[in-house]
Amino acid sequence: MVTLGIETSCDETGLALYDDRHGLIGQVLASQVALHERYGGVVPELAARDHIRKLPLLLRTLLERSGMELGAVDGVAVTAGPGLVGALMVGIGTARSLAWALQVPAIGVHHMEAHLLAHRLAPGTPAPQLPFVALLVSGGHTMLVLVRRIGVYEVLGRTLDDAAGEAFDKTAQLLDLGYPGGPAIEAAAREGVPGRCRFTRPMMNRPGLDFSFSGLKTQVRDRIGAQSPSAQTRADVALAFQQTVAETLAGKCRRALEMTGVADLVVAGGVSANTSIRLSLDEMARGTGARVHYPPPEYCTDNGAMVALTGNLRLAQPSQHNTELLPRPRWPLDELMPLTPDEP
Ligand code: KG4
Ligand code: ZN
Repeated sequence: MVTLGIETSCDETGLALYDDRHGLIGQVLASQVALHERYGGVVPELAARDHIRKLPLLLRTLLERSGMELGAVDGVAVTAGPGLVGALMVGIGTARSLAWALQVPAIGVHHMEAHLLAHRLAPGTPAPQLPFVALLVSGGHTMLVLVRRIGVYEVLGRTLDDAAGEAFDKTAQLLDLGYPGGPAIEAAAREGVPGRCRFTRPMMNRPGLDFSFSGLKTQVRDRIGAQSPSAQTRADVALAFQQTVAETLAGKCRRALEMTGVADLVVAGGVSANTSIRLSLDEMARGTGARVHYPPPEYCTDNGAMVALTGNLRLAQPSQHNTELLPRPRWPLDELMPLTPDEP
């Protein structure tokens, strides 16, 4: 079964074809970074308009590159939420029209479930054992989730304020490093001198699995003060900020694994592309015997491949087909339908 996946929930237009027998057939991705850069963040109206502009051409490119006809598509999967409502509506409108024209089913995919399953896009790597813990760290979400089986998600902890990616973006803005903040901070931190700057790790001295990143942003603001910092100070602050986030995420993951007695940790979402965060998580795993699973770096940030893969799994079970495909800008992860237990 070949599924076309469409992702337009934020600032990436992603399309992909996924086959349950052969895996990923092809994918295309257009980033809107250049469009939003000058505003220091995503402008929802501009995002929606750009998705409208890019989708038809991207679909044609995807089919040409994959050597496939549109008629070979057996189902259409589209991100239905969470995300920006206007941006979601563009993808959903396209998916519904294509499904109607092709007389195939369409399904709405939960964006965070797609992130959570993106590690399956790395062929040949050992699969995590169920139940596993997932750390989802993106621009809009920061959550620790106990995955009992695919579709059965228990949220163990979440951010009380900013998401981890949002903290990277806002800190990069404070440091005048540009947008998106994650890669900009990672690049600046390479020039930083360790130990020159220190921040306290938020929420680590409190029990539980919730996160909070807005205080860390305030620590950064206090550290740089009113003057424009030198390039070296910005690098030192970027390094300390990144290290603090990395240690906080690793500390909370250790706690989640201990509390649940689970050995496998899946990490996903844009922030999981960060090398320093991966190193901290790997170090935690070496100390505890946990196994950490990551998506390939190119599938950490938003893409159509993870949506095609997730939709393919759900479309394989007719009971999962949504009769109503509408945008759900706020869609709690624990409201999803479980897949049947024999699903691997
Ligand atoms: O998953 P994603 O592409 O979109 C959402 O679903 O939000 O995540 C985007 C977020 C942005 O906040 C971006 O700054 C962050 O992921 N990000 C990173 C890195 N690459 C992207 N954060 C830290 N280090 C990175 N290398
Ligand atoms: Zn995302």
